Amino acid sequence: MPRAADRERPGGRSPSPLSESLVKVPAVQTYYRVPEVLEALRSIVSGDLSAGDDVRRFEQAWARMLNVEACTTTAGARVALARALRALDLPPGSGVLMTPINPAEMVEAVRAAGMRPILVDMDPATLFHDPQVVARAARPDVRAILFTYLYGLVPATLDPVLAFAKDRELLVIEDISQAIGAEVRGRPLGTLGDLGIVSFSSFKVVSSLGGGAVFGPAVRVQRCRTAGPDAAPPRARFLVLIAKILAHQVLTGPILYPTFMFPLVRALGVAAPDLLERL
Ligand SMILES: Cc1ncc(COP(=O)(O)O)c(C=O)c1O
Repeated sequence: MPRAADRERPGGRSPSPLSESLVKVPAVQTYYRVPEVLEALRSIVSGDLSAGDDVRRFEQAWARMLNVEACTTTAGARVALARALRALDLPPGSGVLMTPINPAEMVEAVRAAGMRPILVDMDPATLFHDPQVVARAARPDVRAILFTYLYGLVPATLDPVLAFAKDRELLVIEDISQAIGAEVRGRPLGTLGDLGIVSFSSFKVVSSLGGGAVFGPAVRVQRCRTAGPDAAPPRARFLVLIAKILAHQVLTGPILYPTFMFPLVRALGVAAPDLLERL
């Protein structure tokens, strides 16, 4: 498309499609404030990582931001999903429809809650459920559906799939890990169904050393608080995570990545592709 300046000028030449498509995107930069890092280390050492006033304040702020009644934090989105399914009181073995682009851990979370994950083909145009596929897959033992929103998009097939789920009384759990802040007609994603879940793991939209949440109506969220499983992760895991994140920051920085990491990764890709895949 011609630039505005060229359009205004009669006979103005359009720039080449290549120069038009080159847009400078700033690299992602994560900022850590020293007092927050120190506070995180203090809570890891003292063991009150997943309790205490800060966690409660965060839960309240999250609920306020999305305009829902309540929120409870968990060790990750996978735990949030297992808790949400347990809290919704579905018969054991109920089918849960989900798109196959979900991380494998989300499939395992459905199993951990005693339900049966059913992976259904997604619509390649919307990267979301295809209404016709969902309608075919929704046999009587299917009782819930997971909406996984990807890349911050509000899928064009959201309305028909939501309407179908409501019509068939399927419980809807929305995973907004990749779509925090996205809205449809003024309503945030995550508040359209029965419960919302989110991941706060490293390099997510809202990222932390690891964590997640379930949010929605107070009665349901209260049931999620006690719906397990959520054994506190070992403290050593957080220290390893901190080391990993710092190593990631240094190794992918502007000096080490082009001079050292990129040639190394390329050489590994040729010499030992299996090892690279495992890393
Ligand atoms: C959309 C989505 N849901 C769930 C997860 C899993 O989150 P967690 O690691 O917090 O269990 C991810 C992580 O990559 C994700 O992208």
